[in-house]
Amino acid sequence: MKKSKAELRKIALKAVATRRENERKKMLSERALKAHRTRRLNAKVSANKTTGYESKSKKSVKEIITELLLSVTSPKIGIIPTLAFLFSFEKKLTKIAELSGLTFMSFESARPVVQGQHETELLVKRQRRIIKKTSSLKSRVFHQENDINDWLLFVKQPNSFPHIFTDYCGNLIGKTRRAVIHILKNDLVQVNGIVWFTFANRGMSAQNAFLELFGKYAGKRYKIELLENYAGSKSGLGSPMTTVILRRIK
Ligand SMILES: C[S@@+](CC[C@H](N)C(=O)[O-])C[C@H]1O[C@@H](n2cnc3c(N)ncnc32)[C@H](O)[C@@H]1O
Repeated sequence: MKKSKAELRKIALKAVATRRENERKKMLSERALKAHRTRRLNAKVSANKTTGYESKSKKSVKEIITELLLSVTSPKIGIIPTLAFLFSFEKKLTKIAELSGLTFMSFESARPVVQGQHETELLVKRQRRIIKKTSSLKSRVFHQENDINDWLLFVKQPNSFPHIFTDYCGNLIGKTRRAVIHILKNDLVQVNGIVWFTFANRGMSAQNAFLELFGKYAGKRYKIELLENYAGSKSGLGSPMTTVILRRIK
C-alpha cells in the first residue's frame, strides 16, 4: 500500500533519529575508551615515578654514569641518543656546567611498552610539555616520536656519538638485538664514550644474552663498567632488569 507523505516523513525522521542515537552511543564508547586509556597511562606514569625509575639501583646506575661522564677523558661534546621517558636524568645532566656541550636526541615509541597509539600520543605530548617548561632542556633536547633502533641502525659512521643511553627496559630480541650488535660492531660511540643498556628479563636471561653478544662484537674495545641485575621497584616486586654500562676503551 502506498504510504502518505506524512508517514514517509515520519519514517525518514525516525531513521535520522536512530542514526544520531547510534552515532552518539559510538562517540560515548570511544570517549569512555579514551578516558580509560588515559587513566591507565597516568597510573603507569605515576607508578614509574614512585617505583621503578626511582629505585635505589636505578639511582646508583645514574650516579655511576654521571661520574663516568665527568671523568677527564670522557667526550664532552655531541648528541646523545636517549630514551628519556620523563627526562629525570637529562634534567640533572643539563644542569652540570662541565657537560654543557652535550645535547640529546630523545625517542619515544611507547607502543611495545604501553599498548595503543592513543597512549603513545599522550606520552609524547607529556614529554613535549616537560621539555617546553624546563629551561635547561628546551635548547638541549630534540624529541622524536620514533623507534630509536630504526635511527641507530641507519647510522653507519663510527664515532658518531659521544655516548648512547639505550635504557630500553625491553627484551634483548628482534630489532633491539640488531641495534645492540650494530652499536658495538660499528663503534658508534667515540673512545671513552659510554653505552648504557637496560634490558628486561622476561622469559630469558638478558645477562647471558648480552654477554654472548659482547664476546662476539665488542672484542677488547669495550670495558664493562657495570653489569647488574635488579628488581624494577623499591619493594623488589617490579620486573627484573639487567643494566649494562660499557665504556669504549679503544
Ligand atoms: C625505561 S624507560 C626510560 C627511563 C629513563 N631513561 C629514566 O631513567 O627515567 C624507556 C622509555 O623508552 C621507550 N622505549 C622503549 N623502547 C623504545 C624504542 N625502541 N624506541 C623508542 N622508545 C622506546 C619506552 O616507551 C619508555 O618511555
